[in-house]
Amino acid sequence: MRRLSLVSICFGSWCRKVNNVRTLTKTGHFITFEGGEGTGKSTQIKLLLNNLVRMGLNAVQTREPGGSLGAEAVRHVILSGAARHLGPAGEALLFSAARIDHIDQFIRPKLEQGNWVLCDRFADSTRAYQGVLGNLDARLIQSLEKVTLAGLYPDLTFILDLPAETGLERAHKRRGAGAHADRFEAESLDFHRALRLAFLDIASSEPSRCRVIDAGRDISTISDEILYHVCQRFHLATEANP
Ligand code: TYD
Repeated sequence: MRRLSLVSICFGSWCRKVNNVRTLTKTGHFITFEGGEGTGKSTQIKLLLNNLVRMGLNAVQTREPGGSLGAEAVRHVILSGAARHLGPAGEALLFSAARIDHIDQFIRPKLEQGNWVLCDRFADSTRAYQGVLGNLDARLIQSLEKVTLAGLYPDLTFILDLPAETGLERAHKRRGAGAHADRFEAESLDFHRALRLAFLDIASSEPSRCRVIDAGRDISTISDEILYHVCQRFHLATEANP
């Protein structure tokens, strides 16, 4: 009964969006960061943000699940593991409901104001974690994505790539001894190995959007490479990229 009502709340949310087709008048740029646990996404987002601001550009950072009031509430439900019993399809619905709120309340308005929006995880995480690892039918994920994003695809996506063992070790250190792993960190090593492959598959299926970054190197080498790709992709000139 509870399962049914949660799913119907999410489904209702999509239906509203389908009936109310959103037109996109974006003038900003949308960059997403994806990858497994402990790959250093948030560090690299901060560094790119600083670089863009130093270049005189308006840039903001956000994250998923979360980034808006409604989505942060859903984040808490999902990462606590409370929604686990809904299964991958139910979790995919929750991530998508959160994403709709995040897009409507934060991402789209910021892009329309001409900002660079840097987002820590987005729809590729649903494709990899719920779609591939949850064994969901690819057509379900595609339809879900189409309705949720309503045309708002990232302009550029960085896939931070690292062996699963290294990423989990880093995530464990970051969390500190004694703290509990969240819903997905607590999955098995095999899960995280398969997750890495799922992200690499996404990158090879969309090479014009995705750049795979070797996240095993030092922080500044990685951030230089990310800035290089951003400058190339959006035709920006910097001292390093005249
Ligand atoms: P978070 O604490 O933000 O971790 P990370 O630093 O790894 O991004 O937790 C987000 C978790 O939610 C992470 O384990 C990935 C998972 N996730 C999904 O399973 N599907 C999704 O669509 C998104 C956005 C995140």
